[in-house]
Amino acid sequence: MSTAARRYHVTTFGCQMNKADSERMSGILETMGMTWEADPLQADVVLYNTCTIRDNAEQKVYSYLGRQAKRKQQDPNLMLIVAGCVAQQEGEALLRRVPELDLVMGPQHANRLEDLLTQAMAGSQVVATEAVHIMEDITQPRRDSDVTAWVNVIYGCNERCTYCVVPGVRGVEQSRTPEAIRAEMETLASQGFKEVTLLGQNIDAYGRDLPGITAEGRRQNTLTDLLYFVHDIPGIERIRFATSHPRYFTERLIQACAELPKVCEHFHIPFQSGDNDLLKAMARGYTHEKYRRIIETIRRYMPDASISADAIVGFPGETEAQFQNTLTLVEDLEFDLINTAAYSPRPNTPAALWNYQLSETEKSDRLQRINHLVNQKAAERSQRYAGRVEEILVEAVNPRDPSQVMGRTRGNRLTFFAGDIAELKGQLIKVRITEIRAFSLTGEQLTPVPA
Ligand code: SAH
Ligand code: SF4
Ligand code: F3S
Repeated sequence: MSTAARRYHVTTFGCQMNKADSERMSGILETMGMTWEADPLQADVVLYNTCTIRDNAEQKVYSYLGRQAKRKQQDPNLMLIVAGCVAQQEGEALLRRVPELDLVMGPQHANRLEDLLTQAMAGSQVVATEAVHIMEDITQPRRDSDVTAWVNVIYGCNERCTYCVVPGVRGVEQSRTPEAIRAEMETLASQGFKEVTLLGQNIDAYGRDLPGITAEGRRQNTLTDLLYFVHDIPGIERIRFATSHPRYFTERLIQACAELPKVCEHFHIPFQSGDNDLLKAMARGYTHEKYRRIIETIRRYMPDASISADAIVGFPGETEAQFQNTLTLVEDLEFDLINTAAYSPRPNTPAALWNYQLSETEKSDRLQRINHLVNQKAAERSQRYAGRVEEILVEAVNPRDPSQVMGRTRGNRLTFFAGDIAELKGQLIKVRITEIRAFSLTGEQLTPVPA
């Protein structure tokens, strides 16, 4: 079968980095002449872009692969690809576990999909997991949205948080040049995109691996410099970035966000724990006092800023008192959203080998307790939107109510209001908030639809 006759399917697990990689890999499959197929059991080329941050994320993939392996036994023309972080972690071992696979490729190889798949189609099983310099991608990604877009700015992570697989599977930090990032954003603007989220696992590390000083002696190549460098692109109305690391988050960055009108007042800064001894055991490189000071400084410059975070409960050795310190941080700081997780021991990470692992029962008990508090606090925090007028960038139709459209506030709160997507898509619309839920809002349109 020629590639042109083939239908491909991509299922994505994991974080925004993986979503961005999937959009690029889908773009590559389309330039090879393939067409999108929504049903993974009907597609001729099936790609799972995988995540291994916690054990349950990894296990999901194996159940999906089981069904595809059966199909492959019936239909040798089916091409089965595992990409992403499980592929990187398991490498050759994945072929032994699922011999029906055609291609196993780590995240650093996403842009090489055409080459790798061509080799696999010629009949050999291919494993691409060696560390490489990530090439600039020249293919047009197939983006899920036509209003908001991800733009990678730094790949990999050089931190060594003791629970985390990411440095092992994503490799060392590799920053794209400011010019390449700006060029991608200009292309996005010319295609009608209105919002860009700059992505990195530790975005504050942006530029550490690039030359620090220009020929004229100007300091360059920090995340702050990058924001100044890209913020004036006509057509791009909003800029976000994630994920921030408290260890490197600077007041200079906060000032830039306050000063640059397109940079949205939303910060995703995981704290992981509110206990200093645990933070040390996690090798996070900050104290809860430092974390609190960062949030205070943000709110001094931008009183209404939205703050979201990640937290882990049940880290090895976590006592009830230490867990309480995390709850106190949640109680004190007025977060808009916290992604919580029970600690999951991961291959090749130090904490997985430590004594004092908590039982699954203890971990899930703490997870329930923190989630209860997070939901209660988020509902309280949402009340500040009552009766307010917010600017919404309209992205799509509300999938649960076709008479409504949906978009986000600058603070990243999902908001619904009555309207016609054909008129409103990609528009910035003033909306009066009339209904409030813990994590989303409903309102009514104030701005007349532009002619
Ligand atoms: N680079 C980001 C987040 C990376 S992973 C940072 O430094 O914060 C996303 C989230 O998954 C983490 O913030 C953490 O809360 C969670 N996570 C990572 N490893 C985990 C593990 N072994 N068990 C449970 N949660 C984990
Ligand atoms: Fe993992 Fe830490 Fe790197 Fe985040 S900063 S990706 S938690 S090692
Ligand atoms: Fe998962 Fe890899 Fe992202 S492990 S969270 S997909 S970096």
